[in-house]
Amino acid sequence: MPDLNLLGISGSLRRESSNTSVLHTLQDSMPAGIEMSVLTLHGIPPYDQDLEREGVPRTVQEFRSAIEGSDGVILCSPEYNCGMPGVLKNALDWASRPAFASPMTGKPVLIVTSSPAFTGGVRAQAQLREVLAGMLARVIVWPQVVIPGVYGKIEGGRLVDEASLKFLLDAVGAFAAEIAALPRYS
Ligand SMILES: Cc1cc2nc3c(=O)[nH]c(=O)nc-3n(C[C@H](O)[C@H](O)[C@H](O)COP(=O)(O)O)c2cc1C
Repeated sequence: MPDLNLLGISGSLRRESSNTSVLHTLQDSMPAGIEMSVLTLHGIPPYDQDLEREGVPRTVQEFRSAIEGSDGVILCSPEYNCGMPGVLKNALDWASRPAFASPMTGKPVLIVTSSPAFTGGVRAQAQLREVLAGMLARVIVWPQVVIPGVYGKIEGGRLVDEASLKFLLDAVGAFAAEIAALPRYS
């Protein structure tokens, strides 16, 4: 059994998504003792409080359970119009319920953004921090992983830029250490 079970969530639905590719590369490269499953947000309906009251959709229940069953979440997202993609905000809204006692409450989160732009999604990264704070998630303060110019760093659905992968794996190491130091693990 692995020491840590992480959940990678991609903020892009695109088939050839760079962000999903980054997560799959990370999944293949995890150090011993850490496993990660990768999830995309296909099938999550628009958040609707009536729908929630009448019966939470199965895709949302599965999404919430996947978060609940993980020791930590790695969000890997593009930036759309200087913010996070709507599908990701929508999924986080579902995951944030019930307020203050949701699967996101106290959940350790590492944020990664990647973009073909020089800025690498930094504005989405900042927005995600604010939104995750609102649902009491435990976002790792450092490092903040940003992968700029990502189109030149992906080949065959995998991140092939060694410097970016090392930066990511160092961040995962810091994330794992932070999770391990939490009271329920020590
Ligand atoms: C609606 C839309 C808005 C975008 N806005 C930004 C932006 O503000 N900043 C940025 O760096 N890239 C922006 N992009 C480019 C995305 O970073 C690029 O499409 C990226 O490949 C999406 O991530 P993916 O490869 O994981 O699908 C935008 C793309 C779309 C479709």
